[in-house]
Amino acid sequence: MKIAIGSDHGGFKLKNEIVKHLQAKGIEYNDFGTLTEQSCDYPEFALKVAEEVSNKNYDLGILVCGTGIGISIAANKVPGIRAAVCGDTFSAHACREHNNANILALGERVTGVGLAIDIVDTFINSNFEGDRHQRRIDKISEIEKKYSK
Ligand code: RB5
Repeated sequence: MKIAIGSDHGGFKLKNEIVKHLQAKGIEYNDFGTLTEQSCDYPEFALKVAEEVSNKNYDLGILVCGTGIGISIAANKVPGIRAAVCGDTFSAHACREHNNANILALGERVTGVGLAIDIVDTFINSNFEGDRHQRRIDKISEIEKKYSK
């Protein structure tokens, strides 16, 4: 399991907590920044992580901003990315099982560290169930194709 992780300044502290957790668990990861608390633009980090996951260099991605919303919207513009904002553990396993989400988005200003770590563990340890859910994801891919140049 290889994880690509990134954040803007609004998610910097929570990203660091998640990085520490991944290190403690011996999970392979790469931190694509941001690397300081200086104000920056979340689409840049969304793009880096989303491209790495879309190109299959990493199995899953984790993105953090203030809310998880901006960074997930940006990541979802990259073909093949299904980024899900989660603020609870039910969503964290359901988005893997039903939506085959490949990026977890979290909001540092929304979700406390303890819950965020549980969400990360749940996301990483859940698997896509396929079957009827694959048919629906195929329909999402068709929408993506319809609007790609
Ligand atoms: C940065 O202030 C904030 O807008 C960003 O982290 C995120 O919450 C955007 O969706």
